[in-house]
Amino acid sequence: MPERKKVTLPDLFKKAANNEPITMLTCYDYPTAHFQELAGIDMILVGDSLGMTMLGFESTLPVTMEDMIRHSQAVRIGSPNAWLLGDMPYMSYQPSVETAIRNAGRFMAEAGCNAIKLEGGAEMADRVEGIVAAGIPAMGHLGLTPQSVSALGGFRLQGKGALQAKKILDDAKALEEAGTFAILLELVPDRLCKLITERAEDCIIISLGAGPHAHGQLLIYHDAFGLYPRFKPRMAKVFADAGQLIQDGLKQYALEVTQREFPQPENWFGMPDDEYEELLNLLGE
Ligand code: KIV
Repeated sequence: MPERKKVTLPDLFKKAANNEPITMLTCYDYPTAHFQELAGIDMILVGDSLGMTMLGFESTLPVTMEDMIRHSQAVRIGSPNAWLLGDMPYMSYQPSVETAIRNAGRFMAEAGCNAIKLEGGAEMADRVEGIVAAGIPAMGHLGLTPQSVSALGGFRLQGKGALQAKKILDDAKALEEAGTFAILLELVPDRLCKLITERAEDCIIISLGAGPHAHGQLLIYHDAFGLYPRFKPRMAKVFADAGQLIQDGLKQYALEVTQREFPQPENWFGMPDDEYEELLNLLGE
Protein backbone atom coordinates (compact mmCIF):
# COMPACT_ATOMS: atom_id res chain seq x y z
CA MET A 1 0.00 0.00 0.00
CA PRO A 2 1.48 3.41 -0.94
CA GLU A 3 2.53 5.69 1.94
CA ARG A 4 -0.39 7.90 2.89
CA LYS A 5 0.14 11.66 3.08
CA LYS A 6 -1.05 13.65 6.08
CA VAL A 7 -4.53 15.08 5.49
CA THR A 8 -4.44 18.89 5.67
CA LEU A 9 -7.12 21.54 5.98
CA PRO A 10 -6.60 22.64 2.33
CA ASP A 11 -7.10 18.98 1.29
CA LEU A 12 -10.46 18.95 3.06
CA PHE A 13 -11.58 22.25 1.54
CA LYS A 14 -10.47 21.03 -1.89
CA LYS A 15 -12.60 17.91 -1.55
CA ALA A 16 -15.58 20.02 -0.48
CA ALA A 17 -15.09 22.44 -3.40
CA ASN A 18 -14.76 19.54 -5.87
CA ASN A 19 -17.89 17.90 -4.50
CA GLU A 20 -15.89 14.84 -3.38
CA PRO A 21 -17.51 13.40 -0.24
CA ILE A 22 -15.36 13.56 2.89
CA THR A 23 -15.22 10.42 5.05
CA MET A 24 -15.32 10.74 8.82
CA LEU A 25 -15.73 8.23 11.66
CA THR A 26 -15.41 8.31 15.40
CA CYS A 27 -12.57 6.33 16.92
CA TYR A 28 -11.35 5.81 20.47
CA ASP A 29 -8.44 3.36 20.49
CA TYR A 30 -5.16 2.41 18.82
CA PRO A 31 -6.11 -0.74 16.87
CA THR A 32 -9.26 0.79 15.43
CA ALA A 33 -7.34 3.92 14.49
CA HIS A 34 -4.83 1.71 12.69
CA PHE A 35 -7.64 0.12 10.64
CA GLN A 36 -9.15 3.54 9.86
CA GLU A 37 -5.74 4.77 8.76
CA LEU A 38 -5.40 1.79 6.41
CA ALA A 39 -8.89 2.50 5.04
CA GLY A 40 -7.85 6.10 4.29
CA ILE A 41 -10.55 7.77 6.39
CA ASP A 42 -10.14 11.56 5.97
CA MET A 43 -11.28 12.83 9.37
CA ILE A 44 -11.33 10.99 12.70
CA LEU A 45 -13.28 12.29 15.68
CA VAL A 46 -12.33 11.11 19.14
CA GLY A 47 -15.88 11.70 20.33
CA ASP A 48 -16.97 12.09 23.91
CA SER A 49 -19.42 9.38 22.83
CA LEU A 50 -16.62 7.19 24.20
CA GLY A 51 -18.43 7.65 27.53
CA MET A 52 -21.19 5.45 26.07
CA THR A 53 -19.39 3.29 23.52
CA MET A 54 -16.23 2.50 25.51
CA LEU A 55 -17.09 3.17 29.15
CA GLY A 56 -20.73 2.09 29.21
CA PHE A 57 -22.27 5.25 30.70
CA GLU A 58 -25.83 6.18 29.71
CA SER A 59 -24.72 9.58 28.39
CA THR A 60 -21.59 11.54 27.45
CA LEU A 61 -21.75 13.77 30.51
CA PRO A 62 -19.37 11.87 32.84
CA VAL A 63 -16.49 12.08 30.34
CA THR A 64 -13.47 14.10 31.51
CA MET A 65 -10.64 15.92 29.73
CA GLU A 66 -8.28 13.21 31.03
CA ASP A 67 -10.40 10.51 29.34
CA MET A 68 -10.41 12.49 26.11
CA ILE A 69 -6.69 13.20 26.07
CA ARG A 70 -5.71 9.58 26.78
CA HIS A 71 -7.97 8.19 24.03
CA SER A 72 -6.92 10.91 21.56
CA GLN A 73 -3.27 10.01 22.15
CA ALA A 74 -3.99 6.36 21.38
CA VAL A 75 -5.88 7.26 18.20
CA ARG A 76 -3.10 9.58 17.03
CA ILE A 77 -0.60 6.74 17.42
CA GLY A 78 -2.82 4.41 15.36
CA SER A 79 -3.58 7.02 12.70
CA PRO A 80 -0.71 9.44 12.15
CA ASN A 81 -2.20 10.89 8.95
CA ALA A 82 -5.96 11.42 9.33
CA TRP A 83 -7.23 14.90 10.25
CA LEU A 84 -7.77 14.24 13.96
CA LEU A 85 -10.38 16.08 16.03
CA GLY A 86 -10.69 15.99 19.80
CA ASP A 87 -14.23 16.41 21.09
CA MET A 88 -14.47 18.88 23.96
CA PRO A 89 -16.25 17.10 26.82
CA TYR A 90 -19.01 18.47 29.02
CA MET A 91 -17.94 21.53 31.02
CA SER A 92 -14.54 21.77 29.32
CA TYR A 93 -15.65 24.88 27.36
CA GLN A 94 -19.05 25.99 28.67
CA PRO A 95 -17.77 27.88 31.77
CA SER A 96 -15.69 30.56 29.97
CA VAL A 97 -13.69 31.48 26.90
CA GLU A 98 -10.45 30.99 28.82
CA THR A 99 -11.42 27.47 29.95
CA ALA A 100 -12.32 26.67 26.36
CA ILE A 101 -8.97 27.88 24.98
CA ARG A 102 -6.94 26.06 27.64
CA ASN A 103 -8.72 22.75 27.10
CA ALA A 104 -8.67 23.05 23.31
CA GLY A 105 -4.93 23.66 23.58
CA ARG A 106 -4.49 20.43 25.55
CA PHE A 107 -5.88 18.40 22.62
CA MET A 108 -3.28 19.97 20.34
CA ALA A 109 -0.27 19.89 22.69
CA GLU A 110 -0.85 16.61 24.54
CA ALA A 111 -2.61 14.47 21.94
CA GLY A 112 -1.41 15.76 18.58
CA CYS A 113 -4.91 16.64 17.38
CA ASN A 114 -5.43 18.86 14.33
CA ALA A 115 -8.63 20.46 15.58
CA ILE A 116 -11.34 20.34 18.22
CA LYS A 117 -15.13 20.03 18.11
CA LEU A 118 -17.60 21.64 20.46
CA GLU A 119 -21.39 21.61 20.71
CA GLY A 120 -23.70 24.62 20.52
CA GLY A 121 -24.64 27.55 18.31
CA ALA A 122 -24.54 31.35 18.61
CA GLU A 123 -24.14 31.10 22.39
CA MET A 124 -20.76 29.41 21.80
CA ALA A 125 -19.52 31.93 19.21
CA ASP A 126 -17.20 33.67 21.69
CA ARG A 127 -15.63 30.29 22.66
CA VAL A 128 -15.08 29.52 18.97
CA GLU A 129 -13.54 32.96 18.35
CA GLY A 130 -11.16 32.53 21.28
CA ILE A 131 -10.10 29.03 20.23
CA VAL A 132 -9.62 30.03 16.58
CA ALA A 133 -7.66 33.15 17.62
CA ALA A 134 -5.35 30.81 19.54
CA GLY A 135 -4.58 29.08 16.24
CA ILE A 136 -6.74 26.01 16.80
CA PRO A 137 -9.17 24.94 14.06
CA ALA A 138 -12.66 24.44 15.52
CA MET A 139 -15.64 22.42 14.33
CA GLY A 140 -19.16 23.26 15.51
CA HIS A 141 -21.92 20.74 16.24
CA LEU A 142 -25.62 21.54 15.79
CA GLY A 143 -28.92 19.65 15.77
CA LEU A 144 -28.90 16.80 18.25
CA THR A 145 -26.14 17.83 20.64
CA PRO A 146 -25.76 14.97 23.14
CA GLN A 147 -24.38 17.13 25.97
CA SER A 148 -27.77 18.95 26.00
CA VAL A 149 -29.84 15.80 25.64
CA SER A 150 -31.80 16.57 28.78
CA ALA A 151 -32.81 20.02 27.51
CA LEU A 152 -33.56 18.63 24.03
CA GLY A 153 -35.95 16.01 25.42
CA GLY A 154 -33.97 12.91 24.39
CA PHE A 155 -32.05 11.55 21.40
CA ARG A 156 -34.50 12.75 18.73
CA LEU A 157 -34.68 14.59 15.40
CA GLN A 158 -34.04 18.34 15.70
CA GLY A 159 -35.23 21.16 13.40
CA LYS A 160 -38.33 19.43 12.06
CA GLY A 161 -40.45 22.56 12.54
CA ALA A 162 -39.73 25.76 10.57
CA LEU A 163 -38.92 27.89 13.64
CA GLN A 164 -36.45 25.41 15.10
CA ALA A 165 -34.96 24.87 11.64
CA LYS A 166 -34.46 28.64 11.25
CA LYS A 167 -32.66 28.73 14.60
CA ILE A 168 -30.30 25.96 13.46
CA LEU A 169 -29.64 27.88 10.19
CA ASP A 170 -28.89 31.06 12.17
CA ASP A 171 -26.64 29.12 14.54
CA ALA A 172 -24.71 27.67 11.59
CA LYS A 173 -24.16 31.18 10.22
CA ALA A 174 -23.05 32.44 13.65
CA LEU A 175 -20.55 29.58 14.00
CA GLU A 176 -19.19 30.17 10.50
CA GLU A 177 -18.80 33.89 11.23
CA ALA A 178 -17.02 33.04 14.49
CA GLY A 179 -14.49 31.03 12.46
CA THR A 180 -15.43 27.34 12.52
CA PHE A 181 -13.83 25.50 9.60
CA ALA A 182 -16.55 22.84 9.75
CA ILE A 183 -19.93 22.13 11.28
CA LEU A 184 -21.40 18.76 12.15
CA LEU A 185 -25.17 18.53 11.67
CA GLU A 186 -26.55 15.66 13.70
CA LEU A 187 -30.05 14.28 13.21
CA VAL A 188 -31.66 17.19 11.38
CA PRO A 189 -33.89 16.81 8.28
CA ASP A 190 -32.06 16.34 4.96
CA ARG A 191 -33.55 19.50 3.47
CA LEU A 192 -32.29 21.62 6.35
CA CYS A 193 -28.82 20.10 5.93
CA LYS A 194 -28.98 20.90 2.20
CA LEU A 195 -29.90 24.54 2.86
CA ILE A 196 -27.06 24.95 5.36
CA THR A 197 -24.56 23.26 3.02
CA GLU A 198 -25.59 25.47 0.09
CA ARG A 199 -25.27 28.60 2.23
CA ALA A 200 -21.92 27.70 3.78
CA GLU A 201 -19.28 29.96 2.26
CA ASP A 202 -16.07 28.90 3.96
CA CYS A 203 -17.18 26.00 6.09
CA ILE A 204 -17.32 22.24 5.55
CA ILE A 205 -20.65 20.67 6.51
CA ILE A 206 -20.66 17.09 7.76
CA SER A 207 -23.82 15.03 8.18
CA LEU A 208 -24.54 12.51 10.90
CA GLY A 209 -28.00 11.21 10.11
CA ALA A 210 -28.76 14.45 8.25
CA GLY A 211 -28.91 13.11 4.71
CA PRO A 212 -26.69 13.03 1.63
CA HIS A 213 -26.31 16.74 0.78
CA ALA A 214 -23.46 17.68 3.12
CA HIS A 215 -19.78 17.80 2.12
CA GLY A 216 -19.13 14.62 4.09
CA GLN A 217 -20.56 11.87 6.27
CA LEU A 218 -19.82 10.85 9.85
CA LEU A 219 -20.89 7.71 11.67
CA ILE A 220 -20.18 6.51 15.17
CA TYR A 221 -17.79 3.61 14.67
CA HIS A 222 -19.62 1.33 17.11
CA ASP A 223 -22.94 1.86 15.29
CA ALA A 224 -21.38 1.16 11.88
CA PHE A 225 -19.76 -2.11 13.00
CA GLY A 226 -22.35 -3.63 15.31
CA LEU A 227 -20.37 -2.94 18.46
CA TYR A 228 -22.88 -1.04 20.62
CA PRO A 229 -25.09 -3.48 22.48
CA ARG A 230 -27.80 -1.09 23.77
CA PHE A 231 -29.38 0.06 20.49
CA LYS A 232 -28.77 0.61 16.80
CA PRO A 233 -29.79 4.07 15.63
CA ARG A 234 -31.81 4.22 12.40
CA MET A 235 -29.34 6.68 10.87
CA ALA A 236 -26.51 4.14 11.05
CA LYS A 237 -25.84 1.37 8.56
CA VAL A 238 -23.99 -1.70 9.80
CA PHE A 239 -21.15 -2.07 7.27
CA ALA A 240 -19.76 -5.21 8.91
CA ASP A 241 -21.16 -6.98 11.95
CA ALA A 242 -17.97 -7.14 13.98
CA GLY A 243 -20.03 -7.47 17.16
CA GLN A 244 -21.56 -10.75 15.94
CA LEU A 245 -18.18 -12.00 14.74
CA ILE A 246 -16.62 -11.30 18.13
CA GLN A 247 -19.52 -13.00 19.98
CA ASP A 248 -19.17 -16.09 17.80
CA GLY A 249 -15.43 -16.11 18.43
CA LEU A 250 -15.93 -15.80 22.19
CA LYS A 251 -18.31 -18.76 22.27
CA GLN A 252 -15.81 -20.78 20.25
CA TYR A 253 -13.00 -19.83 22.64
CA ALA A 254 -15.02 -20.87 25.68
CA LEU A 255 -15.98 -24.15 23.99
CA GLU A 256 -12.43 -25.05 22.97
CA VAL A 257 -10.99 -24.25 26.42
CA THR A 258 -13.65 -26.23 28.26
CA GLN A 259 -13.24 -29.17 25.85
CA ARG A 260 -9.41 -28.95 26.13
CA GLU A 261 -9.02 -28.32 22.41
CA PHE A 262 -7.11 -25.11 23.09
CA PRO A 263 -4.18 -24.70 23.44
CA GLN A 264 -2.40 -26.88 20.90
CA PRO A 265 1.41 -27.38 20.72
CA GLU A 266 1.78 -24.47 18.29
CA ASN A 267 0.35 -22.20 21.01
CA TRP A 268 2.89 -23.02 23.73
CA PHE A 269 6.63 -23.10 24.28
CA GLY A 270 8.77 -26.06 25.35
CA MET A 271 11.93 -26.26 27.46
CA PRO A 272 15.10 -28.22 26.49
CA ASP A 273 15.36 -31.63 28.21
CA ASP A 274 18.73 -30.83 29.88
CA GLU A 275 17.42 -27.56 31.34
CA TYR A 276 14.34 -29.34 32.61
CA GLU A 277 16.45 -32.10 34.22
CA GLU A 278 18.60 -29.46 35.89
CA LEU A 279 15.52 -27.68 37.16
CA LEU A 280 14.25 -30.94 38.72
CA ASN A 281 17.69 -31.43 40.31
CA LEU A 282 17.55 -27.91 41.72
CA LEU A 283 14.17 -28.74 43.18
CA GLY A 284 15.61 -31.97 44.68
CA GLU A 285 13.31 -34.20 42.67
O1 KIV B 1 -19.09 12.34 20.74
C1 KIV B 1 -19.35 12.07 19.56
O2 KIV B 1 -18.97 11.03 19.01
C2 KIV B 1 -20.13 13.02 18.85
C3 KIV B 1 -20.93 12.43 17.76
C4 KIV B 1 -22.34 12.36 18.18
C5 KIV B 1 -20.71 13.10 16.53
O3 KIV B 1 -20.15 14.17 19.13
